[in-house]
Amino acid sequence: MSRNTVRDIQRMKKSGTPITMITAYDYTAARLIDEVGVPMILVGDSIGQTTLGYENTIPVTVDDIVSATAAVMRGNRNSFVVADMPFMSYQASTEDALRTAGRLIKEGGAQAVKLEGGVAVAESVRAITSAGIAGMGHLGLTPQSVNQLGGYRVQGRDADGAQQIIQDALALQEAGAFSIVLELVPTELAAEITEMLEIPTIGIGAGVECDGQVQVFHDIMGLSLDFTPRHAKKYAQVGDVIIDALGRYVDEVEKREFPTDDESVQSARPQTKSNVTELDVASGN
Ligand code: KIV
Repeated sequence: MSRNTVRDIQRMKKSGTPITMITAYDYTAARLIDEVGVPMILVGDSIGQTTLGYENTIPVTVDDIVSATAAVMRGNRNSFVVADMPFMSYQASTEDALRTAGRLIKEGGAQAVKLEGGVAVAESVRAITSAGIAGMGHLGLTPQSVNQLGGYRVQGRDADGAQQIIQDALALQEAGAFSIVLELVPTELAAEITEMLEIPTIGIGAGVECDGQVQVFHDIMGLSLDFTPRHAKKYAQVGDVIIDALGRYVDEVEKREFPTDDESVQSARPQTKSNVTELDVASGN
C-alpha cells in the first residue's frame, strides 16, 4: 500500500466513501494506526491537552507540531498526514502563515496543513495553496478562539451564526482549501454545508452526514483521564489497562517477584574447575 494523497481524499467524497481521520502525536500511535490503515491522520494542536498537559491548545508551538509530525511520519506509511498550524503562527499575516506552513511541510514532513477560521484566513489559505501546499479549514468551534468564544460550545445554532459558517465554508473552498473540519455544529447545518461543497467536510460532533469523521486518539481509546467530550465514543479503555498493568508491576517489584530467572541473565563464569571452558582459559578467567 502506498501513502494516501490529497487526491485520494477528494476522490472519497466523489465516490461517497466515508473518510476516517484520527489524531496522532507520536511514533507509537502512528504505528498502531498503520496496522489498521486509517485514511487520514491529524497531528492536531490537541497535543497541548493530550500529551503536553496544557489546559488548552493556546501554548502549543510550531516546534511542538514539527517534532510530533516528524515522529508520526516515521511511524506511519499509509495515511494522509495533516499538521495543525498552532495559535498565533498564522493569524498575524499571510507571511506568517506561509512560513509556518512551509516549516510543517519541510521539517515535519506533513502532506497538508490545517488552520482555524473562515473569511478571516481565506487569503492565507490562498497564499498557502499558491505555494503548492494543501490547506484544510476548520470551522464551527475553533478551539484556538476559546477565550473569545467563552468556552467549548456548539456554534451555528441561530440563523446568523449558521449563515456565517456557510459563508466561511464557501470562502475557504473558493480560496483553495482541499477539505474543511466542522467541529461542534448542528447536524442539519453540517449536512447542508456538506451538500453545498465540492470539497469533503470532516466532522467532529457535527453528525453523521459529514463526508468523514475525526476524533482525538486519546478520547476514543479511553486515555483522556480527566475529561472526555460527549461526541467521543470510547472504543477502548486503554487507560484502565495501563493503570492495572502498572499496579501489578509496582506490586511485583515491591514483593521481589519481578524479575524472575526468566527475565534475568545468569553468569557464564565457571563455578568449578571441571567446567572451565577453552574460552575462559584463553581470556584468563
Ligand atoms: O487538534 C485537534 O485535535 C483538532 C481536532 C479537534 C479536529 O483540531
